This record gives sequence, structure tokens and C-alpha cells, in this order.
Amino acid sequence: MSRLFVVLVLVVAAAGLLRWRRPAWYWLTFGIALATLRVLVRYASVMEACGLTVPPPRWRLALARMANRPAPASRAPRILRLRPTRTGLVLRLGLRPGQDAFDVAASCDRLRHSFAMYGVTSREIRSGVVELRMTGYDVLAQVQMPVKVDRTPMRVPVALREDGAVHYRDYRTCPHALTVGATKSGKSVYQRNLVAELATQDVALVGIDCKQGVELFPLARRFSALADNPDTAADLLDALVTHMEGVYQLIRANQRITADIPDAEIAADIWDLPETLRPTPIVLLVDEVAELALFATKEEEKRRDRIITALARLAQLGRAAGIYLEICGQRFGSELGKGITMLRAQLTARTAHRVNDETSANMAFGDIAPDAVLAAISIPTDTPGLAVTGDSTGGWARIRTPHTSMRQAVNACNRHAHRTAELPGLAAFRPELPPTVSLVKIPAPTEAPASA
Ligand SMILES: Nc1ncnc2c1ncn2[C@@H]1O[C@H](COP(=O)(O)OP(=O)(O)OP(=O)(O)O)[C@@H](O)[C@H]1O
Ligand SMILES: [Mg+2]
Repeated sequence: MSRLFVVLVLVVAAAGLLRWRRPAWYWLTFGIALATLRVLVRYASVMEACGLTVPPPRWRLALARMANRPAPASRAPRILRLRPTRTGLVLRLGLRPGQDAFDVAASCDRLRHSFAMYGVTSREIRSGVVELRMTGYDVLAQVQMPVKVDRTPMRVPVALREDGAVHYRDYRTCPHALTVGATKSGKSVYQRNLVAELATQDVALVGIDCKQGVELFPLARRFSALADNPDTAADLLDALVTHMEGVYQLIRANQRITADIPDAEIAADIWDLPETLRPTPIVLLVDEVAELALFATKEEEKRRDRIITALARLAQLGRAAGIYLEICGQRFGSELGKGITMLRAQLTARTAHRVNDETSANMAFGDIAPDAVLAAISIPTDTPGLAVTGDSTGGWARIRTPHTSMRQAVNACNRHAHRTAELPGLAAFRPELPPTVSLVKIPAPTEAPASA
């Protein structure tokens, strides 16, 4: 008996320790079983307490009255499926007549407390079916991407969502993206993560990093073209526009619209071209975009207009030519001058890291998902990398990228350096490869002349 008691105490202590230090392991060992049991046992009473039940149908009330039996209880949504996952539970519910997916969405916070879960989100699968995704612990505190993630061409996993699902950056669905955030909020790590993932695909990477190249030049082996100052960036963008025009000529030359060509085979973008003819898709990554739009002299103003015009043209016309934009900056609003809001309107996928004021959050979400603005402002300073992402459907979610170090990104880029495409028009911007071992000698401070 006493031995059993000792074992029990040890198991409870181990569970407590795991829950405190390793919540992910706790979930896999104890959490799943306990939470499943809790949800199944408390289900009916929780649904009733949360106002998610409907009165029984009239025929059942009439039958009960005729049989002189007590009136049947109100009915909760039917459980269609309960699936445990690596991070939580997925509960699929069939709504009763008269119930609404909005009722369930409005009760998510109450359900979270009642089932003692860390987070609950709901989404409508189809009419009458709602899915509740519950997380057992804070999955964004220490991001661990699942081992098995979908990797299809031009669709890469970049972050984990707060409901435990993987967040993908899908260039074929949302060609262009904007990422904003205050300084040290995690934009460059997000972009680095994206580069490390894109490096494994057959895509040409082109970068503009006006922080003198500190973020992108270490990854140069996988980049087909790089610019580290606004002057080179202006030339690079002009070359990209010329490349885009060349791709359109190629598509036109291969359209051959004749009566016997099936509709599906008429090329309208690079993906309709046969693989042998298809130009390599290009992802243009711009870090610190505001640097490209600031100017102090007349000359710089001309350069700025050139840059913004080229970016706007790429954003408007680039998609079918396989040119995708990924723009990062601290702010990206109309105060950066004319053309900025026109360019921003083309950047469909929006991500906001921590921002310090509502106007910055509005630059990302003001025009697509106003309630995401509040979520972006309330990101705490001690969680860099935490972000709010939305798209033009009006939906948004909290995400966090895994902390990819510069060394991991460099290793990924070097491993896939053989995929680096030679783009004929951009050969002049091919970066000089960094030496494998760089020994930078920092000059000793010059001695101040001794005062007489
Ligand atoms: N996903 C993450 N998980 C954990 N730590 C992170 C994450 N992302 C960023 N950080 C931490 O935050 C620091 C700043 O990140 P980063 O350089 O990406 O910020 P930034 O927004 O690009 O800042 P700046 O605008 O000044 O360039 C990183 O050095 C890293 O330590
Ligand atoms: Mg940065």
C-alpha cells in the first residue's frame, strides 16, 4: 500500500515538474488523456453553462407529455469528432437547428476556462459544422515546428499559429507580403526563416538590405542578386522590371491561341508554361524598406521616385511573371511619400510584429482586418517574433516564428547553394561570396594627441 502511495506521489511530482518546465512533454504524456477526459465528462454541463444549448424539439416535448415522463433536457451541439494533436485537442461539433457558428465563436473564452485549456479558437468548416481548436499550453512561448510539415513549391512553413497549426507563406495564393514591426520586434528573424525555407526550393532569391547588408549578405551563396544601398537597389529594381518584361514576351510567344488548344493550356502566367520553358520564379526580399523611400537631396528624391515606381510596377505586374515581393519595415505609411499607399494596396499578406502605436498597426491591418490592430499593439516587448498575421479575407491569427539563428540560416543557404539561379539580366548584382573564415581586424583606437 505504502509502495503504491510512493509511486503515486512520484508520478504526480513528475507530472507537476513536466508541466512547469516542459509543457510540451507534459501534454504528450499526461495532458492529452486528462484533457480528453475532462472535455468528455464536462461537455454537457459546460455547453449549458455557456449558453450553447437549444430547447428540445416540440415533438419530443409532446411525446414526453403523452408518456407522462419528465420533459427532455436542452440539447448541446453533437460531438462529431474529438482528435488529440501534438499541441491540443480538435473538437468538431454539429450545430443543432437554431444555433449559429457566431455563438460558438463568442463563447470561446468561456469554453477555454471551463475546459481548463490554454486557448480555444473556432472556425466554421461548412454550414452546420464548427471546429474548436484547443491548445493545452502556450505553444508560442517556445516554438517547436512539427517534424512533418507540407512543403510544396512556393508554399513554405514559416511560423506556428497560436492554435498549434503551422502558418504557411503561400506565394501562389498571396503573391506579395508586407511585414511591419518596431525595432527589435523580430522582422529580420522572420525574413531569415523565410530565406532558410525558400533556399530548399527551386526559386531565385533577390535581396535588398539597406542595413549595409548585415542581414542578407551572410546568406549570399543562395542569392542570385543583392543590393545593400539605395543606389544599387534602384539599378537592381530596374533590372528586375526589364526581366519581368522579358518573361511576358516569353509567355506571349508561347500562347498560340488556336481553336484546337484547350482552354487550360493557354498560358497566362509562368506556371502555365511547359516546365522546360518556365523561368525560375523570383522572390524579392526587401528589409528596412523605409530607407528606400527617404531622401535629403534632389538627387536622392529622383532615386526614391525611381525605386518606388519600380516596386509598384513589380507589385502590380510581377505575379504572372513569377516575381513575388516580401517587404519588411518599421513603418510603411503615406508619410513616406507618394506611391507608398498604392504599393501597399498590392501587398496582400500582412504581418505585424510588436508595434508601438496604433498608426503603425493600421498600416498593416487598418484596411483589411481592423480588430487585428488591437492585437498587434498588445504584443508584449519580451516576446520578440510574436506577430499578428492577416489576409484580405479579414481573418487574422497570432503567430511566432522559430528562432532561426544566423548560423542555421547560413548553413541552410550554403547547403542549397547549387540551386542558386543565374539570372542573365541580374548578373551584375550577383554578390561577392563571403570568405568562409572572416577575420576582421578592428583597428585600434588612435591615441589622442597629448595636450601640451
Ligand atoms: N521568433 C523569435 N523567437 C525568439 N527570439 C526572437 C525571435 N525573433 C526575434 N527574436 C529576438 O529578437 C532579436 C531582434 O530580432 P530582429 O533582428 O529580427 O528584429 P528586427 O525587428 O529586425 O529589428 P530592427 O528593426 O532593429 O532590424 C533577435 O536578435 C532575437 O534575439
Ligand atoms: Mg531587422
